[in-house]
Amino acid sequence: MIASNAITIFHLVIGIAFFERASLAAYDGCLLRKSLNDCPCALMESYDFIIIGGGTAGSVIASRLSEIQIWNVLLLEAGEHESFQSRIPFFPQLLEKTRMDWNYTTTRQTRTCQSVGGYCSYPRGRVLGGSSAINYMVHMRGLRADFDRWEARGNPGWAFESIHRYFHKAEKFIPYDRHGRGFESGGYLPVNENEPSWLTPFFTSALGEFGLLRTDLNEGTGGGYMPMQVNILNGARVSGYDAYVRPIQERPNLHILTSALVTKILFENGTAVGVEFEKDEELYKIQATKEVVLSAGTINSPQILMLSGIGPVDHLRQTGITIVRDSPVGLSLQDHIGLMAFFRLDKVAPGRGQDAIASFKEYLTNRRGVLTSPFGGLVVALVNSSYSSLDHPDMQFHLGVGENQDICYINGFVSRPKSRGILTLRSSNPKDPPMIDPNYLSSKHDTSIMKEVVDFIFRITMSNSMRELGTKYMAHFHPKCENASEYTSCLIKRYGQPFFHPVATCKMGPGTDPYAVVDPQLRVHGIQRLRVADASVMPHIPSTNINAATAMIAEKASDLIKDEHLGPG
Ligand SMILES: Cc1cc2nc3c(=O)[nH]c(=O)nc-3n(C[C@H](O)[C@H](O)[C@H](O)COP(=O)(O)OP(=O)(O)OC[C@H]3O[C@@H](n4cnc5c(N)ncnc54)[C@H](O)[C@@H]3O)c2cc1C
Ligand SMILES: *[C@@H]1O[C@H](CO)[C@@H](O)[C@H](O)[C@H]1NC(C)=O
Ligand SMILES: *[C@@H]1O[C@H](CO)[C@@H](O)[C@H](O)[C@H]1NC(C)=O
Ligand SMILES: *[C@@H]1O[C@H](CO)[C@@H](O)[C@H](O)[C@H]1NC(C)=O
Ligand SMILES: *[C@@H]1O[C@H](CO)[C@@H](O)[C@H](O)[C@H]1NC(C)=O
Repeated sequence: MIASNAITIFHLVIGIAFFERASLAAYDGCLLRKSLNDCPCALMESYDFIIIGGGTAGSVIASRLSEIQIWNVLLLEAGEHESFQSRIPFFPQLLEKTRMDWNYTTTRQTRTCQSVGGYCSYPRGRVLGGSSAINYMVHMRGLRADFDRWEARGNPGWAFESIHRYFHKAEKFIPYDRHGRGFESGGYLPVNENEPSWLTPFFTSALGEFGLLRTDLNEGTGGGYMPMQVNILNGARVSGYDAYVRPIQERPNLHILTSALVTKILFENGTAVGVEFEKDEELYKIQATKEVVLSAGTINSPQILMLSGIGPVDHLRQTGITIVRDSPVGLSLQDHIGLMAFFRLDKVAPGRGQDAIASFKEYLTNRRGVLTSPFGGLVVALVNSSYSSLDHPDMQFHLGVGENQDICYINGFVSRPKSRGILTLRSSNPKDPPMIDPNYLSSKHDTSIMKEVVDFIFRITMSNSMRELGTKYMAHFHPKCENASEYTSCLIKRYGQPFFHPVATCKMGPGTDPYAVVDPQLRVHGIQRLRVADASVMPHIPSTNINAATAMIAEKASDLIKDEHLGPG
């Protein structure tokens, strides 16, 4: 859509070239080794801890474990460093199908994504920073009730009251107007309030017409709206890697290896003793003397477990993998599904809108303006469907602006879906993409709420505040529904939009839970010295975006590891 504007592309390229030169220096240095040979601090045969995956969680854990000077830590990442495009918040969609993406698609879905044959595109970060280097940067913690449910289902220590301090430990909150929550907390991950645009008050008063109030949704107590809170600093994206590892990358006890594809975890007698990985077409085996920490994300952590022999026995037998332990890996995949719609603003007052070139100039000179907003996102709202109440909202909406500021969009998703899917291996080859089947909308409950999501998107645009702007639906973004008799159903079936928040493929739970892969200390059931710590361990999907909760999990995992090996305190 936005990318189709030739002038815009031209300016983007100029902008990137300009910044790429200015920032290259930051990428030199010991840690981003192109090969083992030009690494001044040589790879060792053995480390205390090996962390698999340098994404949101892996970055947190690498940073926290290497605080202990007597521990040697190795971080293995399949991708390389991020490109400069990833810095500009407005263009995350340009990062899809690049070298920073694993380029996955789902298996054929029957109830959505029919405009692309049922194969929904499924980006995942393959880069230092992982999916946080290609995502939309929206910072939402989840509802208190989400975490209370985790604890209630047999995971002591995970209720909101217990984990709250880990959100606090992770975040460095910087309110745009320095009022809001009123403090700057001391964590690594910047959480900024979005710069307001002229459009922001129209969005907020539209939401107000539905009785919603402005509130800090990150308190997790219920519905309402707020200006987006985002992981952006001075107009640039901050990935988990930028936040947690860059400031400490000189630590001599932390080794980081990029372009290192982990192919399996090595076991001896039910104990994880090391990792096998491929780099530059050579296989390496490195020992871990204390623990292996698997942080390859919800798609690749279960893939690596199964490649290593931990998974459902029948499935492993089919693929010819030697079984280490029967485990329900991959069996309870969950994700958010929703819809995105675009609207023309026909009555934008002179002086309010701005063309793309002016937006670029403003960004390049001041690092301000619309391009500092993630895909133009300005406002986020949590709203209840008819199945819930405002203190436990089950729909989330984002309201944003196009780069010429003469169009806007609203997207929304079903935030507590009941559908569960499955993740399996295509084969025993580590380079084959896993089969991702989120099984979207298999629960009737989800489909009913999805209809309410779509309805609410259109209801917002019919509010007095949005009508004042001459808001007109741009149906041509959904051409295959042009003549549909049941328009809402057609939109859902053809144009449903995954929100890329997969969780629960290595679900946390007690030994009595038939779907639990890890225990509440994140240790793989039945295996010694192996933990999983990333979004895959979430037992139920949070009612919002999930990157913040992933950082929280990783902060807590780091403390669990320190407690176990050093003693509490
Ligand atoms: C397009 C998109 C938009 C999103 N928008 C938002 C948003 O606005 N807000 C939000 O909260 N969340 C958002 N998310 C979700 C969020 O970014 C992720 O949930 C979060 O980053 C997950 O963190 P993780 O540590 O579990 O995995 P990741 O961050 O994905 O990290 C996994 C890492 O492991 C590496 N890896 C995988 N396999 C191997 C292997 N075999 N060997 C070595 N390394 C390996 C990967 O390359 C990657 O770097 C979005 C996600 C996407 C894809
Ligand atoms: C994804 O596709 C891009 C563009 O074709 C390519 O450069 C990149 O290497 C691909 N990623 C992977 C993991 O294959
Ligand atoms: C294997 O592990 C079991 C239980 O952890 C232990 O009893 C046994 O002695 C171990 N065997 C070897 C060969 O290490
Ligand atoms: C939200 O819940 C309230 C009752 O708490 C209800 O009156 C309202 O209709 C619900 N909203 C929607 C969109 O159904
Ligand atoms: C909708 O109907 C018009 C007029 O009959 C036709 O030209 C167009 O191709 C139809 N669109 C689709 C998607 O079927």
